[in-house]
Amino acid sequence: MRSAKDFFRPLAVGAPEPLREIPARPSRAIHFFDPSNPKMAAKIPDMVGRVDVLLGNLEDAIKADNKVAAREGLVKIASETDFGPTQLWTRINALDSPWVLDDLTTLVPAIGHKLDVIMVPKVQGAEDIQYVDRLLAQLEAKAGLERPILVHAILETARGVANVEEICGASPRMQGLSLGPADLAADRRMKTTRVGGGHPGYLVRQDPPLNELGVAQIEAQRSTFQQDLWHYTIARMVDACAMHGIYPYYGPFGDIADVVACEDQFRNAFLLGCVGTWSLHPKQIAIANRVFSPSVEDVKHARRVVEAMGDGTGAVMLDGKMEDDASLKQCLVMVELAEQLAAIDPELKQQYDAIQLEGEEA
Ligand code: GLV
Ligand code: MG
Repeated sequence: MRSAKDFFRPLAVGAPEPLREIPARPSRAIHFFDPSNPKMAAKIPDMVGRVDVLLGNLEDAIKADNKVAAREGLVKIASETDFGPTQLWTRINALDSPWVLDDLTTLVPAIGHKLDVIMVPKVQGAEDIQYVDRLLAQLEAKAGLERPILVHAILETARGVANVEEICGASPRMQGLSLGPADLAADRRMKTTRVGGGHPGYLVRQDPPLNELGVAQIEAQRSTFQQDLWHYTIARMVDACAMHGIYPYYGPFGDIADVVACEDQFRNAFLLGCVGTWSLHPKQIAIANRVFSPSVEDVKHARRVVEAMGDGTGAVMLDGKMEDDASLKQCLVMVELAEQLAAIDPELKQQYDAIQLEGEEA
């Protein structure tokens, strides 16, 4: 284990200083694109400013024959595009694959100055993050980069989940975690075949009614309630990320047509503490932007509580409900997020500003 004194020392001579705090940049939707697909690549400049994060995917979903084309395509797109307020991320190949070394040694010198975050798949433990950490420092030093590239781990192995806290704390580069429900389900030998989302078989059933003799009517019609297969893992991710000052994300929702269930799954993650999710299709961007932005009603309520609580101590009654230091802190989370999002999303800013005006008029 590194001494606390050494934790923020660059891991290579000449590498940029590690960050002491991970910036809270809006990242409601991380939109995946295949850089080897010319049709998709052509759309990227138009998406700048319309999505918080564009991610050039090099890993799963890219055929082995296209791995080099995807890597080179990403270099070309990144070099030719001005990303303005939109972040550029990439997902490199897995650390046990034959492609990952070339991914890193190609991308960092060529486009390292434009890359905000590198997503590392199938992370098993702190040792995987430490490997990438040192390699990035060496490559950054060689390329003369002035700011460190951050690292995001996908939680998609049973061992990764067991080691989630040490993964989050393994390097000052750690920016966040995403859930990888498809690989995680396979690794855990779960009996599902979907990419994220619920399953109709994972449910609880209402107790049977009793007849007049007090005997349970097992065969009677009873309501069932579908449960969330991912609740446990997301809750662990959220705690591990909060503990280390980094950010948790939902992952892929593979049923592109089912925009309703997609929205539900994203909202569960938002309510539990996630800051964003992946988008596998342009229509999921709008869903993510809506879900991962606090609602106007919530922001309105949060601002009222902040105002009513004055110096933040004690308790007040608002609409028959008790508000105190702890509910104030929850409201501040909403207000701060609304401010960050308003700074980059003019439509949202207008909606949030309208509340302010209403308040002033009243
Ligand atoms: C994502 O990579 C997943 O495996 O779900
Ligand atoms: Mg995966």
